[in-house]
Amino acid sequence: MKNIEVSKIIDPILASDGAGVKLKRSIGVEPNYFDPFLMLDEFGSENKDDYIGGFPPHPHRGIETVTYMLNGEFEHEDSTGAKGKMSAGDVQWMKTGGGIIHSEMPAMSEGKLHGFQLWVNMPAKFKMNKPEYIYIDSKSMDIHKDTEKKIKIIAGKFGDAEGPIKGHNVEPIYFDVELEKDKEFNFELSSTHNSFVYLIEGEIKIGDKNHKKVNNSTLILLTKGNKLKVKAIIKSKFLLISGKPIGEPIARGGPFVMNTKEEVLKAVKDYHSGNFVRK
Ligand code: CO
Repeated sequence: MKNIEVSKIIDPILASDGAGVKLKRSIGVEPNYFDPFLMLDEFGSENKDDYIGGFPPHPHRGIETVTYMLNGEFEHEDSTGAKGKMSAGDVQWMKTGGGIIHSEMPAMSEGKLHGFQLWVNMPAKFKMNKPEYIYIDSKSMDIHKDTEKKIKIIAGKFGDAEGPIKGHNVEPIYFDVELEKDKEFNFELSSTHNSFVYLIEGEIKIGDKNHKKVNNSTLILLTKGNKLKVKAIIKSKFLLISGKPIGEPIARGGPFVMNTKEEVLKAVKDYHSGNFVRK
């Protein structure tokens, strides 16, 4: 059993996407890619001007987008006919496969919006699959709760609690953890996986080696290993996300992520010729 330590601490950059939604982007910039994860955005603001434009209709091919709302409401609509209103605590796990056009618009005009979007790569053999939209109501998700911690499980297993995403090729772990002051969160990860912690709020210490103090909204890449230990210096909230690397070449073109540049150009061509949407 190998202990897991901090490999890199990364401050997100401020970016804007969709119709001017302000967000903090970490994966997708630095690091460019953390196999199988292509992008991690944290969007959040109390100022409606930072989010009201939303994400009007746009295409995707070759990836999965996982949106997790912590606060506020978003409305999703896509070319498969799926529609859903996400409220605080809800998750949508969308497999874009060979082609989907979707929009994500705020269903709120005031108040605090806060959430995450994670992009998970798809292996070549799944990239042209039919799109699939999975909506997960907060109430249907397992939560492990004891006096020291509360863990909401979007994917993976903690004790008897299990997330709704099962049989997935990257064997994802996606936990939302709340840890009381001075308490420890111990968890066994697969040594083949790439894993990270994203500190939402608080102050934590990971592993046994010293590392610099981590601020809120910071990405912490972990070394490969089995035993993860996170200690809360003060009451803290963080995401733990882990997945099995796909190990294939990556060609990016905005919302299209394929294996080669030719495939990205094909996606652009299909989109402009109206040949894009898979149903
Ligand atoms: Co999108």
